[in-house]
Amino acid sequence: MQSNLAVARAASPFAKIWAIVKADAYGHGLEHGLRGFAEADGLSLVEWEAAVRLRDLGWRKPIMMLEGAFDPTDLIIADQHELEIVVHNDEQLAMLESARLSRPLQVHLKINTGMNRLGFVPDKVQQAAARLRAIPVVNSISFLTHFANAENSLSVLNADLQFARFKEAIAGLEGPTSLSNSAATLLQRQLQADWIRPGVMLYGASPGGGSAASFGLRAAMTLKSQITAIQQLEAGDVVGYGSSFTADKPMRIGIVACGYADGYPRHAPTGTPILVSGQITRVVGRVSMDMLTVDLSMLPDVKVGADVVLWGEGLPIDEVAAAAGTIGYELMCALTPRVRRLLQN
Ligand SMILES: Cc1ncc(COP(=O)(O)O)c(C=O)c1O
Repeated sequence: MQSNLAVARAASPFAKIWAIVKADAYGHGLEHGLRGFAEADGLSLVEWEAAVRLRDLGWRKPIMMLEGAFDPTDLIIADQHELEIVVHNDEQLAMLESARLSRPLQVHLKINTGMNRLGFVPDKVQQAAARLRAIPVVNSISFLTHFANAENSLSVLNADLQFARFKEAIAGLEGPTSLSNSAATLLQRQLQADWIRPGVMLYGASPGGGSAASFGLRAAMTLKSQITAIQQLEAGDVVGYGSSFTADKPMRIGIVACGYADGYPRHAPTGTPILVSGQITRVVGRVSMDMLTVDLSMLPDVKVGADVVLWGEGLPIDEVAAAAGTIGYELMCALTPRVRRLLQN
């Protein structure tokens, strides 16, 4: 995490960094995120309880709530714990207008530059900023937008277009800006702002547009297990639920203690890469709740107890994700609580 943070810093040397730690630090555990990103300038997330935990764990630098207040009591929490908030719609503005707080809040006005999830459309930004400025419990105002396709400059909504809309929307308004997610940090260096907001790259996965290694990123998470049983199959034997895999010749099958109840994707098909004793092989048959099955035919020395790496060091999460028709983000975030998060230096 520290090394990936340094990659982000080098990519945007004049910007401050909001390290994104929503979804339990993308599945890595909030405490680990806090330690790994100690050198970040701020942490940013969505979940209010987790933000309070960050304060309890001793984080004193800024915290930004990426989706702002969901209801008025969130503003009380922001007040108590000095949390900065995004304001993205009229309802949140109204909440702030009627809030009675002990001190003014730092507010980040979110602008919808075409992604059409959160934010004020450009035409409404000046008016929203004026309303914010008139609220006594608002301290200073920053401005942000979010890129939909920063990994793909050819997109109909590319980052340059969103950037141009953003600049136009905030023309004449004073205040810091925050823009780039991981893809923009790595691939759209022409788009400068006061802050960047990298997430997935800090965990060592690619946001698209190149492999993690090509960006100099290192896996923060290695999901490990072991072989707990071995079966010898004859040609025609089948494996697992639904008998979706049939051996076409005699083969050895290893059973791995990891399944969808751990967050390994059930839809990972036969052929998904996996490392056994440091050697690449493939998942075969259907992933079950607590187990999956792998082909050991080419690995005659592997015995019960052998190490298995499902993704991470030696096997990029993005390759496993691609085989399973998803993205590294989803695999990380889907890791379940029963998987122990062990720190290794
Ligand atoms: C508003 C905002 N900023 C930054 C990020 C970080 O994005 P990434 O993980 O692609 O770097 C996210 C993640 O979804 C986000 O929603």
